[in-house]
Amino acid sequence: MTSELITGIAELTTNAGSGPGDVDGNRIADAALVIEDGRIAWLGAAVDAPDADTRTDVGGRAVLPGWVDTHTHLVFAGDRSAEFEARMAGGRYAAGGIATTVAATRAASEEQLVAGARRLRAEALAQGTTFLEAKTGYALDVGGEARSARAAAEVADVVTFLGAHLVPAGVDRRDYLDLVTGPMLAAVAPFASYIDAFCEVGAFDVEESREVLLAGRAAGLGVRVHGNQLGESGGVRLAVELEAASVDHCNHLSDADVDLLAGSSTVATLLPACDLSTREPFPPARALIDAGASIALATNCNPGTSYTTSMAYCVATAVLQMRLTIAEAVWAATRGAAVAVGREHGADAVGSLRVGGLADLQVLDAPSVSHLAYRPGVPLTVGVRQRGERVTA
Ligand code: NIG
Repeated sequence: MTSELITGIAELTTNAGSGPGDVDGNRIADAALVIEDGRIAWLGAAVDAPDADTRTDVGGRAVLPGWVDTHTHLVFAGDRSAEFEARMAGGRYAAGGIATTVAATRAASEEQLVAGARRLRAEALAQGTTFLEAKTGYALDVGGEARSARAAAEVADVVTFLGAHLVPAGVDRRDYLDLVTGPMLAAVAPFASYIDAFCEVGAFDVEESREVLLAGRAAGLGVRVHGNQLGESGGVRLAVELEAASVDHCNHLSDADVDLLAGSSTVATLLPACDLSTREPFPPARALIDAGASIALATNCNPGTSYTTSMAYCVATAVLQMRLTIAEAVWAATRGAAVAVGREHGADAVGSLRVGGLADLQVLDAPSVSHLAYRPGVPLTVGVRQRGERVTA
C-alpha cells in the first residue's frame, strides 16, 4: 500500500462544510493531500503536509471533488439531431420524440447499447464525473427494459428504472401501467436502486405516476420524479408527498411548489443543459435556494433534450444564467448531488473530500473553481482520480 502526496494545490475545494456558504469549511488555500488505498489519508495546509511514498505537484492548480451526475439516460441507440435542428428553428420540445429513440434502442443489440453507454461514461469521466446515475426508459417492454438495466449497471454507479417514460404506441394505457408495475418492475428491480416516472402532460399524470412510484417503493426502490418540465404537472407535489429523493427539471414552479420543496427532504435537481436545448424557461433556482430548498445540478445526458456529458457546462450555465454563485453551483454538482442519490454520508460518500473518504477528485487547469464560469466552454479538467486511480494526468 503506497501513499501519494499531492502538492501545489492553489485552492482545495473539499465541500466538507455545512453548506455552500461555509467558505472556511469548504476551501483550503495552498493545500496538499495524501491518497492511500483509494482514499484520502490526509488533507490540509501545504505547510503541514506529511511525508508520503510518492509526490505529485499539480503546479498551482485548483482541486475539487469529482462531479456527481445524478440524472442521465445513457442507454440508447440512434440520433435525434434532426429533431434538435427543427427545435432550434422554432419548434417546441414534446415528449413524443422519445418514441424515435425507443425504436432505435429496441433494434440495437445489447452489445451495441453497452458500447454506446461506455463511450459516454468514458467521456464524462475524462471531464471529471466520478459518480454517475443512469436510467432505463428507451425500450419500454419487459425484455428491453431489463436489457437496458443490465447495460446501465455495467457503466453507472446507480441505476434508475424509468419504464414510466412514455406509453408505447399501440399499447393500451391501463395494460402498460400493469406491465410497468408488474413484470417489468420484477425484471428490472434486481439491477436498480430507484424508480422514476415522467409526470408530465403527454407522458403520465399524477395518479398514474403515483401508482408506478408506489409499486417501485414496495419492491424496495427509492423514488425519483421527472416533474414540472413542460408545465405545472403536479410532479413536484407528488415527489414531496412521496418523500422522493429528488424531483428533476422543475422549470415550471408555483410559489407553493417552491415552499413545498423548501419544507421537504426532496432535492430539486436542475438540468440547465436541457433547458438550453429545449428553450424552456430556467427553473427559479435563486428562489429555491433562498427559500431553503436543496438543489443539485445534473447533465440529463440523453439524445433528445440534452446530448452532453459536461457537468462543467451545467455549472457555468447555472452561474451565468440561473444566478447561482460559483460556490453554490459547484456544491450543487458535487455534495448537493450526493444528497440526491443518498450518498452524502458514510464510508462511500461522494461529492466531498475528507479524511477517510473516497479519493474521487479532479484537477483544473486554473487556480480557482471560479474559472469554471469565468472561462466557460474551456475544458479545464486536466486530471481526474477515481478511487485514487489516475484516469487522466
Ligand atoms: O429528462 N423528460 C423526459 N425524459 C428526458 C428526455 C427524453 C427524450 O426526449 O428522449 C428528459 O429530458
